[in-house]
Amino acid sequence: MEQYVIKGGKPLVGEVEIGGAKNAALAILAASLMTEETVEIDNLPNVTDINALLEAIERIGGHIERTGAHSIKLNCAHIDSFNIDCECIRKIRASYYLLGALLGRFKKATVPLPGGCNIGNRPIDLHLKGFRSLGVNIDISHGMINADSTELIGSHIYLDNVSVGATINIMMAASMAKGNTVIENAAKEPHVVDTANFLNSMGADIKGAGTDVIRIKGVERLHKTDYSIIPDQIEAGTFMFAAAATKGDVTIKNVIPKHLESISAKLIEIGCEVSEFDDSVRVVAKNRLSHTHVKTLPYPGFPTDMQPQMVVTIGISEGTSIVTESIFENRFKYVDELTKMGANIKVEGNTAIIDGVSGYTGARVAAPDLRAGAALVIAGLAAEGITVVDDITYVERGYEEIENKLRNLGAMIEKVNSEKEIQKFRLRVS
Ligand code: EPZ
Repeated sequence: MEQYVIKGGKPLVGEVEIGGAKNAALAILAASLMTEETVEIDNLPNVTDINALLEAIERIGGHIERTGAHSIKLNCAHIDSFNIDCECIRKIRASYYLLGALLGRFKKATVPLPGGCNIGNRPIDLHLKGFRSLGVNIDISHGMINADSTELIGSHIYLDNVSVGATINIMMAASMAKGNTVIENAAKEPHVVDTANFLNSMGADIKGAGTDVIRIKGVERLHKTDYSIIPDQIEAGTFMFAAAATKGDVTIKNVIPKHLESISAKLIEIGCEVSEFDDSVRVVAKNRLSHTHVKTLPYPGFPTDMQPQMVVTIGISEGTSIVTESIFENRFKYVDELTKMGANIKVEGNTAIIDGVSGYTGARVAAPDLRAGAALVIAGLAAEGITVVDDITYVERGYEEIENKLRNLGAMIEKVNSEKEIQKFRLRVS
């Protein structure tokens, strides 16, 4: 297994380029199955979740041509299986998007039931409720979702709670149903809008994405398109908090500042200077930061995927802060790891009470999930001494070469895969 080894204490300074949004790309790659024509996609992040989905699409007959480090041509004219049960697809939760895409095009599909993960049990009942409303028969057996219909009929669907995945999945299937579909209480995340824009560029008729009511007129066919994925809001936010936690001065480039409004607002609230430009934001943190209260909410609220990065940063700020995790039921697992680095945090249910400490000390910690892993890297960058982060495969699911991007900002960080390399790093930086 590989680790990141970090010598902390240096402010991050300089510029970093943000890649394409992982959570938009996963949905868009699935939606690419809905046409027999060739789709060209640019600004695709080179992360393991994306590569796992590309491998699964190839396994069922999709043809992929890599045209650059972050661009592909994808043709799914010869998809020859509606039954996707390969090991690679079980690795990622977003495999459920194949359900909506295959249902749209073929009116039937069989995909593995996605597992839970370390942040909660993550049911998909709302996805299935939406598909049933569209006339799909759903049967779950042997860990597989078996979906079948003669045709999809547009429907009026109310989502009991805001769900990004259910909104996108139903939107995909409904885009090729007969008649009109309305999705009420829809998620408004940037990646919902990006997926709608992608589908519309293929000839779909979707209006209202980004609001809580999405209206879809079903079409019979979708056609080729050439599309570029939006910048990753969460990767950008992660670097913004890394700048704050290390008292740095970082310009984060290739972003859409509007997508970062709640993150910028909280950073200003705790004492950072945040400047917005057309496609970049600059975060400067000169003095010790102060406390705040924050509750994670669906977009445009403060993102749950930024919750660990926020907690790490206010864990070394002045005063007592409160963070409430309202989206997932188990997203504070990393606090035990952060405590090894000197954090003073008490978790009660879905609320963390954070007493700011003067600083972290380096320790050996393990990433429990993707965003918590990135947050522990931030803690290591801010800590005095050496931090080793284990289980970094979680981090690599959603961050492309984070260690190189951080090194270009002055961080002392390396990706290693042996105790001997850790020792060599220790000797080199001591
Ligand atoms: C997406 O997950 C993201 N993943 C998550 O990012 C993100 O945390 C989440 O949206 C919220 O923004 C991808 O896009 C691949 P939800 P998703 O459906 O769609 C409950 C990351 O780090 N729910 O909006 O699975 C669910 O349990 C990942 O990149 C149901 O009850 O999230 C949760 O409590 C982590 N029934 C809440 O809704 C359902 O049918 C929001 O989940 C679906 C969801």
